[in-house]
Amino acid sequence: MSYIKSTSGVFIGILFILLVGYGSASGQSNELYKHAAVVSAHPEATKVGVAVMKKGGNAIDAAVAVQFALAVVYPNAGNIGGGGFLVYRGNRGDQDALDYREKAPGSASRDMYLDDKGNAIADKSLFGALASGVPGTVAGMVRAHDKYGILKWKKDVQPAIDLAERGFAVTAQQADELNRNKERFLKYNRKPVAFVKEGLWKAGDLLKQPELAATLKLIRDKGRSGFYEGPVAEAIVKSMKHTGGIISSADLKDYQAVWREPVSGQYKDFKVISMPPPSSGGIALITMLGQISEYPLHRWGFQTDSTVQLMVELERRAYADRASYLGDPDFFKVPQQALLERKYIYGRTADISFEKATPSSAVNPGKLSNYESEQTTHFSIVDSKGNAVSATTTLNGSYGSLVVVEGAGFILNNEMDDFSVKPGSPNAYGLVGGVANSIIPGKRMLSSMTPTIIEKGGKLVMVVGTPGGSTIITSVFQAILNVLAFDKDMQASVAAPRFHHQWLPDEVYVEKGAIDPETRARLAAKGYRIVERGPMGRIDAILVKEDGSLETGADPRGNDTGLGY
Ligand code: GLY
Repeated sequence: MSYIKSTSGVFIGILFILLVGYGSASGQSNELYKHAAVVSAHPEATKVGVAVMKKGGNAIDAAVAVQFALAVVYPNAGNIGGGGFLVYRGNRGDQDALDYREKAPGSASRDMYLDDKGNAIADKSLFGALASGVPGTVAGMVRAHDKYGILKWKKDVQPAIDLAERGFAVTAQQADELNRNKERFLKYNRKPVAFVKEGLWKAGDLLKQPELAATLKLIRDKGRSGFYEGPVAEAIVKSMKHTGGIISSADLKDYQAVWREPVSGQYKDFKVISMPPPSSGGIALITMLGQISEYPLHRWGFQTDSTVQLMVELERRAYADRASYLGDPDFFKVPQQALLERKYIYGRTADISFEKATPSSAVNPGKLSNYESEQTTHFSIVDSKGNAVSATTTLNGSYGSLVVVEGAGFILNNEMDDFSVKPGSPNAYGLVGGVANSIIPGKRMLSSMTPTIIEKGGKLVMVVGTPGGSTIITSVFQAILNVLAFDKDMQASVAAPRFHHQWLPDEVYVEKGAIDPETRARLAAKGYRIVERGPMGRIDAILVKEDGSLETGADPRGNDTGLGY
């Protein structure tokens, strides 16, 4: 397969490494690294991950360091006040999946975001601390480190403390985002927060976060109890009182991250390893990759009528199933086995016509034989021993609930909006759901996060994932196919313009240039409603080439950066 064929890029890559050590200024070119690589949403976080591995840490140590560094340098989504998923593949092929998704607080209730007429109240599940689930990130990182880390915990956390204390230079994109959210930060916080300055931010300004540094020091010194008990937990509970939130000290003390069995399936000869529920991503991705492997995609070509049409129809059906069947497996009996049965997966494609679009109104969730602004962030890591981490972490919306915990310096998530607040009522991403994803105390909200690892013949091939709310699953789907079916290199694959369909609304969202005007016109004539929208996701991925070298793919939609050595 051409996906791993070495090209002249190897030579260019080696020359590059010899010339500059590692990394270009942007970290967004298809460079090759011999030993280890990290791709994340921010150059400073990527550098931290690489440095930890150079000091002898493995992929999990680097993941812990990158997760905490992102909480400092990428406050839109990097977090300690949110949650995430991590998929791990050891160099012997062993696999694991860590669920550190937020949970509904103990006094949450099914109808907590509805008015007395039973209608969803706009913004109630999106802004302010009532929108926050119990954060899972710190518990998750402790769990990951306990099981797989080889460096001392303190060494993995320290780089984030240094960044928070010394400050870092904001990028032009970050300056713009902080300026755009200034009024909202002022609205949801009564005391000054680090993210608001007098005047406007500009590229190169230093963002220092002394309160966050103090919180991170407690986490460094006390592990999970540095966050879920003591001064930080007290600050969270105290902040609930003036922000209308409901997270209690018992919620914090009780929170546990859990190891789960990854979900896996096949795309041709490739094994796809991804996140099980409460992610909807793994099941949907594996379903669509299984289905599409039966079609001559390579012959049809990239973004041609048939390719786009088929992908849209598969996405439509996968998201219809998502709305009915997927939720937190600890609270809802997710029919995972039935959804992944060969017969069911392939049976779902029987009514696809290439003559015309299937209206979403005609697509219901399948019948099982037995009887989830888009801010999240992803990082991919491969260490020198071949261990791999694919981790997606989130506050949900950009800067989450906008609430900064007073005295503790971190932003709380607004993940409660990922629940189905009312059956059939769309969330911020337009996703609908029902009982499977209804609010219950202690339950995890359904997610689209799809951290994924691909292997072939027992060898690591790809580490991939992205933010993007409901578009996460379809973006990962395309990034994988761009390499495995269309022979693109990793960087070109993540840069390629994308499209997306999610059953409801019945619209095909396209980035500028994703589908050429002639193809678009023909698809429209077949009944597809095509709507142009802004960027979808920021995919960060690593591809293992045939000679074992690592090619990074850092999404040019952001300041994403791939580096290695
Ligand atoms: N908050 C986005 C997701 O988890 O899908």
